[in-house]
Formats: sequence, C-alpha cells, structure tokens
Amino acid sequence: MDAEALATTTARKRLHVITWGCQMNVYDSGRMADVLAPLGYAPAAEPDGADMVILNTCHIRDKAAEKVFSELGRLRRMKEATGNRMILAVAGCVAQAEGAEILARAPYVDIVLGPQTYHRLPEMVARASRAGNKVIETDFPAEDKFDHLPDAAAPQGITAFLTIQEGCDKFCSFCVVPYTRGAEQSRSAATVIAEAKRLVAQGAAEISLLGQNVNAWHGLAPQDVDGGGEGTWGLGRLLRALAEIPGLKRLRYTTSHPRDVDENLIAAHRDLPSLMPFLHLPVQSGSDRILQAMNRKHTADEYRDVVRKLREARPDLALSSDFIIGHPGETEADFEATMHLVRDVTFAMAYSFKYSSRPGTPAAGAPMQVPEAEKDRRLQALQALLREQQAAFNASCVGLTMPILFTGTGRHPGQIAGRSPYLQPVHVTGPAELIGSEVQVTITAAHPNSLAGIIHTSQERRSA
Ligand code: SAH
Ligand code: SF4
Ligand code: F3S
Repeated sequence: MDAEALATTTARKRLHVITWGCQMNVYDSGRMADVLAPLGYAPAAEPDGADMVILNTCHIRDKAAEKVFSELGRLRRMKEATGNRMILAVAGCVAQAEGAEILARAPYVDIVLGPQTYHRLPEMVARASRAGNKVIETDFPAEDKFDHLPDAAAPQGITAFLTIQEGCDKFCSFCVVPYTRGAEQSRSAATVIAEAKRLVAQGAAEISLLGQNVNAWHGLAPQDVDGGGEGTWGLGRLLRALAEIPGLKRLRYTTSHPRDVDENLIAAHRDLPSLMPFLHLPVQSGSDRILQAMNRKHTADEYRDVVRKLREARPDLALSSDFIIGHPGETEADFEATMHLVRDVTFAMAYSFKYSSRPGTPAAGAPMQVPEAEKDRRLQALQALLREQQAAFNASCVGLTMPILFTGTGRHPGQIAGRSPYLQPVHVTGPAELIGSEVQVTITAAHPNSLAGIIHTSQERRSA
C-alpha cells in the first residue's frame, strides 16, 4: 500500500478523550492525542462510535473511583455497540492509584496507564489490539516521558497550557499527588522555550506554565545542553526568557507553593509586564497548627509575608487560593485563624474544599477526624466570606480600563468574550475579528463570576 492509501485507511480511526481533574490532565490529554496521531487517530467530538476512548481521571478528592466506574459503565455500552471494536483506556491519577482494581472490576477496559507512561501509548495500543490482551502500565518509568513524546502537534488555540514540571516531592499530609504522579521532575529550559515558541507560532497569545509545584521548577539552562553555561535556572529566569518570545502577550504559571516563591520570581513579577498580575497561591489553612499537621512547612505569617513582597513588587497583583476545611485536628479556633487570614490577605477568588480522606495518605489515619456536619458549617462560612471578597474585587474593576484577550464569541449575537488579566470572563459587544487580540476594554458592570465592558476605542487605536 502506498503512503497515500495508508493515510486514507488510517485516517478513519477516531479518538475521543474525556478529561477530568487539573490543567495538567488537560495538557496530558492533548499530548496523548499527539502521540496517537501518527497511528491515524484523529479527534472525535463524541465517544459514541469512536475507535478509541481514553478516560483521563483525577484522584484528588472523594468518590473519584466511583465516578470512574460509573462513567465506565456508560462507555461499556458504547463499546458493545461498536461490536467491541472500541479500545477503552483509563489514564490519569485513578489509573495510577487503582489500576489493578479497574481491570478486575471493569474487564472490558483494554488499557490502564499511569500519567508517566503516555509516551508508550502507541505500543500499548498495538498490544491491546491483539484480541483479548489487557495492558496495564502504572510503573514510574526510568525514562522521562517528555524526552520520548513527539513535539506537541495539535494547536491549542489562543490560550495554551505548557507542563514544565511533573510530580511532587512535598508530601502534604492530605494529598495523593506525590503517589499518583511520582517524583518531581523538571523539563529543561531549552525544551520549554522551544515548545512555547511552537505554541505561539500556532496562534497562542497566552501560555500558562503548569506543574503541581511549578515554582519549584529548576531546569537545565539552555547553554548547558551542550556543556558549560549558567547551570540551572529557576522559574523567575525561565519567565524572563519566555517573555522575550515575540507575539507572546501573556504568561501565567500554576500551581505554586508559598515556600518556593523566591526573590527571582518576585523580581519577575516586578519586571515583566506580560507576567499577569494574578497568582494562584494555595494556602490551605490559616492556622499554624494545621499547617504543620498538613506538612506545608510554612506558617500563616510567612504566607502573609510572601504576599506582601509580591504586592510590593507588583502593586496591581490579585490572588486566588485553595483552602481545605476540616483537616484532621482542625478546631473552631483553627478555622477562625483561616477566616482571619482570608480577611487579612483578601482574595480575588478562591477554591475551598471539605477535607476528604485519601487512602494511603498520612492524614487518612490521623486521629480527630472532623465530623461532616462541622465541615459543612465551616465551609459555608468560609465560602460566604470568599464570595463577598470576589464580589468586592469584581466591583472594584468597574470603571477601570484593562486589556482583555478575546478568545471566542459570547452567548448573545454580536458579543465577544475574553479574559481579563485576573482571568475574569469579560463580555463586550464587538466584532469577531478581535478574537485572538488583546484590546483595551472599559469595565461597565460586575457580576458574581464575570464582567461586562465596552471597547475603549481611543486606546485601541493607540495600540494598533
Ligand atoms: N499542588 C497544589 C495543589 C494540588 S491539588 C498545591 O500544593 O497547592 C488542588 C487542591 O485540591 C489543593 O490545593 C487542595 O486545596 C485540594 N485538595 C488536595 N487534596 C485534598 C483532600 N484530600 N481533600 C480536600 N481537598 C484536597
Ligand atoms: Fe499535593 Fe502538597 Fe504536592 Fe500540592 S504540594 S501536589 S498539595 S503534596
Ligand atoms: Fe487530579 Fe491528578 Fe491533577 S489527582 S488534580 S489529575 S495531578
């Protein structure tokens, strides 16, 4: 068969990827599609009738496994409807944690693969295609998957994710990530810069650098690829290099740990206009006792101090955070300390969760688990305060003129939608040609989770 004929037969295969969990999973799903593209798999919008479905899972909180089994039940029926031709794969953090259990309880699953094995997917598909073969790959391989994955191929669009670091060595008491993602590993600066340039060439105006502990990134400096040079870079230095890429308008990074905010990173916030003035900096609790029990290795005042330094460097900086309510041992006084910290720092938005016991983590077996009703009550009080702060922050934007990066059309005809520097969704009436550009917009109204505005014509002309 000649190459063209081969391409026509192979192009018929359809791949659907379902993604749950964090942005790193979103990035990984794209990379799995990239690695399967040479085998002839093209993206399918629906799982129904697809030749292969990958369920990319998250294990971070409660009921993760049950949710996977219930989705697998639905996919099983679709697989049967294809005469069992569909290859069904489970990837991500539940696959890593519960691989054997998945194959035992859902024998119609063909492939179970952990997050560090995605570069081996083509070979797994070949093995699974031989009738009746089950494939499970949940070891942490010695090789780095990024060295073996093809260059990211499918364009991500105007805003793109770029994973620069994998795994986590922090071992917070409550968290499964060090077990599901393995040890912390940073990609080299050269590979990150090359991928960022490709993303920009494909139309990305904003790149979010990803890692579970992204500000602990320390990569080989580009010169060191061929010996000699600067040794290793930290995130601050990497951001400076990325900020020089022409056409890259916005840089973000997530998720960072308060302990790893160093002077260079703070200086990057001071010096780089393209580094957005919005930082997700999870604190989890405002109580020193609980922070210690969580193994976060910093105090509430140290967090306040990091925030103060960041705000000194970048006065328009706004913050978001994550909170866990009801970690084992949390008393009413500890909870009050969290409320106190929230009032002191003030957040533009935040995520808050009830503590959920994860099998195999140190906190799961800890004494003094907090009763569910108590967690509910505290969570509601915290969320009311966070909602108030978010509303106040959104209201403070009314009257300001800020750059909005337009990414698509809005819900109403003639409307376009984009994101503010603070990631707030912003809707304006405007021409679709502005999608992909950053345009000055005057904010006219604030809603709980979004803003409305009008295009600021004079500034638009100035910047054009
Ligand atoms: N690497 C990031 C967080 C990754 S998980 C960090 O260190 O901040 C995202 C969020 O999920 C965490 O910040 C935490 O708030 C929440 N989370 C993690 N494990 C949890 C658990 N067992 N119960 C409840 N929330 C949890
Ligand atoms: Fe989990 Fe802590 Fe690592 Fe974040 S830093 S991924 S919360 S162990
Ligand atoms: Fe979930 Fe794994 Fe991300 S547990 S939050 S998908 S690292």
